[in-house]
Amino acid sequence: MSGDGLKGLILSGGRGTRLRPLTYTSAKQLVPVANKPVLFYGIESMAAAGITEIGIIIAPETGEEIRAAAGDGSRFGVSITYVVQDAPLGLAHAVLTAEEFLGDSPFVVYLGDNLLRDGINALVEAFRRERPDALILLTPVSDPENYGVAELDGDSVSRLVEKPEEPSTDLALVGVYMFTSSIFDAARAIEPSARGELEITDAIQHLVDHRLRVDPHIVQGWWKDTGRVDDILEANRLILDDLRERVEGELVESRVDGRVVIEPGVRLERALVRGPAIIGAGSTITDAYVGPYTAIGENVVVARAELEHSILLAGSSVRDLQGRMEASLVGKDVAIARSPAMPRAYRFVVGDNADITIL
Ligand code: G1P
Repeated sequence: MSGDGLKGLILSGGRGTRLRPLTYTSAKQLVPVANKPVLFYGIESMAAAGITEIGIIIAPETGEEIRAAAGDGSRFGVSITYVVQDAPLGLAHAVLTAEEFLGDSPFVVYLGDNLLRDGINALVEAFRRERPDALILLTPVSDPENYGVAELDGDSVSRLVEKPEEPSTDLALVGVYMFTSSIFDAARAIEPSARGELEITDAIQHLVDHRLRVDPHIVQGWWKDTGRVDDILEANRLILDDLRERVEGELVESRVDGRVVIEPGVRLERALVRGPAIIGAGSTITDAYVGPYTAIGENVVVARAELEHSILLAGSSVRDLQGRMEASLVGKDVAIARSPAMPRAYRFVVGDNADITIL
């Protein structure tokens, strides 16, 4: 499979403003989906497609955390080179930043917060077979104005527009692209967009304008851009839907229904866990109900509470809730509890951009 010099480039430089407050302290590409950082799904899908030389574009602010998480890539069976993009000047700018690493190899660009159920094998095979100058991945969406969109003329791409106010098609550009080194000159030739970025969409349009061959590939299986909280919860639901049951840890007067992963060192006491759900190592679930589509990270405490369709990050705790918690995304080391002390009052110590809904 490999051997044709195909390289991978994962863009993980974005600031994740739509995922605040989580992204004040952590890179958005490391937010876990079904207890695994989003970024790792991208690395794994490249490895599965036989791509072993991967560059990861990082920002100065979050780069160290990403380096620490993904390391040299050996645990994924790949070799990772980190490339720092000094400022978030757009996807085409990020690609140019990696020009030295990419050289004249053809390459896959994968946006680090994207998830594709069926990975990139079909796309990579089509590229290897057809040898176009670029290959873009597309999928119909209900809100094309939020994406780059592509117009097709039969089997070829005729026009691309980044976030059009009045889209003429519902075919969105999925955050995975395949390029030959012709993209570098295109990226150098374009001007920044209204948002001040060198758009990859415009660089691909430049290829089309210069009669280079840009092939479309319609995505099979689902695709998620995990840029917003609702998308993360939805991605979590989609990944958990394919979960394979594995129960380790200790169950005391507890029940586990359906597809559930209970990691080692977990203690369930008088708890009901109804899958699909995953509970990370070292967590304790006591007198509690954990419902479908919930991902609980490591060393979390849930006591006398009910929750479902939620993500709890490592070290957080939820105690003594009267109502069921749902559709929630709880960051690291967050404590949610009921106090017996008088006066009976709500007390919040929360960071900027937090979002709290009470009964
Ligand atoms: C970027 C691209 C857009 C593409 C989207 C896919 O948008 O500019 O063309 O459709 O990724 O996730 P951004 O996430 O930068 O708004």
